[in-house]
Order: sequence, then structure tokens, then C-alpha cells
Amino acid sequence: MSRIKDAFDAVANTIISQKDYLSGIDAKAGDGDHGFNMARGFTAARDAVDEMEDTSKPGPVLKTIGKALIQNVGGAAGPLYGAAFVKAAEACDDDTAMNKQSFAKLLDAAVKAIQDRGHAQQGDKTILDALIPIRDCFLPENTEDKNLYEVLQEASKAAGDGVSYTKTIPARKGRASLVGERSIGVEDPGAVSTMIMYRALYQFLKY
Ligand SMILES: Nc1ncnc2c1ncn2[C@@H]1O[C@H](COP(=O)(O)OP(=O)(O)OP(=O)(O)O)[C@@H](O)[C@H]1O
Ligand SMILES: [Mg+2]
Repeated sequence: MSRIKDAFDAVANTIISQKDYLSGIDAKAGDGDHGFNMARGFTAARDAVDEMEDTSKPGPVLKTIGKALIQNVGGAAGPLYGAAFVKAAEACDDDTAMNKQSFAKLLDAAVKAIQDRGHAQQGDKTILDALIPIRDCFLPENTEDKNLYEVLQEASKAAGDGVSYTKTIPARKGRASLVGERSIGVEDPGAVSTMIMYRALYQFLKY
């Protein structure tokens, strides 16, 4: 047992429990499989972490999660999230800990991994519309005079605002872009899954 493993179990269990909700959102402008893809990937990732002998260090745990997502999820989001976890793992070092600096570093690596692979920008109605605002809350210029818990809470709100923003714009990446303007009014499923994962982590860390 370790804190990082317990934190991931909380995130994975939450995502798995929201399977039908996420697929329902994807059905409105995409192909209705986002919850199924995420549940499949996070079940495989949770099992892979369960098999690890040593879960005391964040780097190996995050790498195991990322590889499981890449190997077990078809669709666009699984490999993108997988790449994000792998690159966050590679950003870990001996100083990585539950603090603002480490969150900033790992979240930045995750954003860059998704951008390198998917070539999307903020405003394209993707995962990034939730993840970039979360990351930005942890940047040093935004965290002066705030403790970790204040920043975690701010980022939870920023994730929700990011999801709301995706309702106002047309999709420019992935299958939802095929329906163009008709995706306006519907939130982006990937942005919603990012918000759900982040909020599950926040709830875990709060108590
Ligand atoms: N290039 C991209 N960059 C970042 N996120 C993306 C990109 N393409 C798709 N996504 C995210 O993936 C989500 C859809 O994931 P899903 O699991 O439904 O796979 P999919 O059906 O193969 O995806 P899609 O239909 O978008 O290609 C979208 O809501 C969006 O947030
Ligand atoms: Mg889909």
C-alpha cells in the first residue's frame, strides 16, 4: 500500500463509476464510447498497479498507468492520457512530493505530452480545455502566498470553468469535429473526464 497507489485507486474507481455518464456525453456529438474506453483503460491500469511489488515511488507507478492506458485503449483519448502519464512519470525525480512545485512540473509534462501527440490547442474542445487551466493554477506566478490546498481547490474550479467553456465552442479535433457547429451546447467528453479525474484526486488529498 502506498499513498500514490491509494490516490490512483480513488481516481480509477471514480472514472470507472462514471462510464455511462461519459459515454452519454460522447453520444451527443461523437460516437458514444468515451466512458467505455476510459473504464477499460483504467481497469487495466488499476490491475497493473495492483501487480506492482513496490508502489512507494510516483515515477514507476505513473509509468505503469500510462503504459496500461496506451496498450488497452483504442480511440483517441486513451493513448493521449497514456502519453500524459508516461511523460509525467519521466518528469519525476527524488524531489517529487505532494507540493505545488511537483504538481506544476508533472501537469506541465502531461499537457506537453498531449499537445505533442494530438497537436491540439486550447479552444479546440478537447482534454486540454480542462487540463491547461488546471496546470496554470499551479504555475509559480499564480501560487505565491497560497498553500497547496488553496491551489488544489482553485484548480478544481478552473477545471469546471474549462468544461463549461467547451460547451460554447465547436469541436476542431476528433470525431466530434465532423458535426461542426452541432457540437456547440455539448461539453467535450475528454474535458469532462479530465475534470472528474482531477476532482477525484482533489477529494482524496483533501481528507
Ligand atoms: N488531438 C486531440 N488532442 C487532445 N484531445 C483529443 C484529441 N482528439 C480527441 N481528443 C479527446 O478525446 C475525446 C474522445 O475520446 P474517445 O475515448 O471518445 O475516443 P474516440 O471516440 O476515438 O475519439 P474521437 O472521436 O474524438 O477521435 C474527445 O472528447 C477529446 O477530448
Ligand atoms: Mg468517442
